Amino acid sequence: MTNPIPAQKLPYLNLGCGSRFHPAWVNLDFVSSDPSVQAHNLREGIPYSDASFDVVYHSHLLEHFPKDFAPKFLRECRRVLRPGGLLRIVVPDLEVIARNYLEALEAARQGRAGWDANYDWTMIEFYDQTVREKSGGGWLDYLRHDPIPNWEFILQRAGTEARRALLAIRSQAPTGSQEMPQPSARIRSRPGPTRGNWKDILARALLGKSDFEALQLGRFRRGGEIHLWMYDSYSLARLLQMESFIQPRKVAASESSIANWRSYGLDSEPDGSTYKPDSLFMEARKPGGT
Ligand SMILES: C[S@@+](CC[C@H](N)C(=O)[O-])C[C@H]1O[C@@H](n2cnc3c(N)ncnc32)[C@H](O)[C@@H]1O
Repeated sequence: MTNPIPAQKLPYLNLGCGSRFHPAWVNLDFVSSDPSVQAHNLREGIPYSDASFDVVYHSHLLEHFPKDFAPKFLRECRRVLRPGGLLRIVVPDLEVIARNYLEALEAARQGRAGWDANYDWTMIEFYDQTVREKSGGGWLDYLRHDPIPNWEFILQRAGTEARRALLAIRSQAPTGSQEMPQPSARIRSRPGPTRGNWKDILARALLGKSDFEALQLGRFRRGGEIHLWMYDSYSLARLLQMESFIQPRKVAASESSIANWRSYGLDSEPDGSTYKPDSLFMEARKPGGT
C-alpha cells in the first residue's frame, strides 16, 4: 500500500505518534485519536511511496518492536525518506537507566535518606514496561501512592508524562480506586483486550479460564505498550549504520537538523523542558541528495 502525502502536509512523518503530534506533519499510530492521525499498524510497513519524506521521526516506538523486527522497520524508514533525508529516533536510554540503577543501588545500600524509594522507581524504569501484564503496570501503581515519597526524583526522570498521569489519577480516580486515569502515551497505547464480543465469548467457552487469560495476556503483550528491546547510543548508532544510514549522532531534545525543530513541540515543552527526559535522541541521514 503506497499513498501520496496529503497536499496540505509537510513532508515530515511522525510514526507511533500517540498523543504527541503536530497537525502539519503526517502522523501515524495504531489508532487514530485525532483527524491529524492516520490509523495504521506499522508492523505491516509504512504506507507511503519511496522517497516521499524529508524527515521521518519516531519517539518511544522502536523499543516496542521485537529486536529482529527493528532492522526491517528502519529499512522501511529509509525507503520512504528521500536521498539525504533525516531520520530522528527517540528511545528510552538504556545506558542512563543502567547508570541510574547502579547509583540508586549504591545509595540505597548505604542507607542514604530517600534512596529506598528512588531505588524502587529505578527498578520500575528498568523492568516494568517489559514485564507488566496490565496497562500502566507498576509505573502507574507507584504513582497511585499518596503521598509519593520521591516526586521530584520521578519528575526529573519521567517529566511531563508522570505529571500528566498524576494529575489524571488525582483528578479522576476516587481515593483507593483502581480505575485507569486518562490514557497517556506510555500506558494504554492501544485499546486493550475486550471481553464482551462474540469471538471472546466463544474463545472463553472453548479455552476455559486459564487459557483464555493466556490469550488475553498475549494480546496485551502484542498491543504496543510493552518494551520488547532497549537501546543505548552505541547499539542504536551501530544498527543505523548497518541499515545504511550515515552520520548517526546523539543530540539534545531541543537540538535537530530539522528546520524550526522546537516550534513543533515534539521533544520539548513550551517552557523548554524535555518531554521525556529519560530519552536518547539520535539523528542520522539517508545517503545521497545534495
Ligand atoms: C510509548 S508510545 C509513544 C507515543 C509518542 N510517540 C510519544 O513519544 O509520546 C508508543 C506509541 O507507539 C504506538 N505503536 C506501537 N506499536 C505500533 C504499531 N505496530 N503500529 C502503529 N503504532 C504503534 C502505540 O500505539 C503508542 O502510541
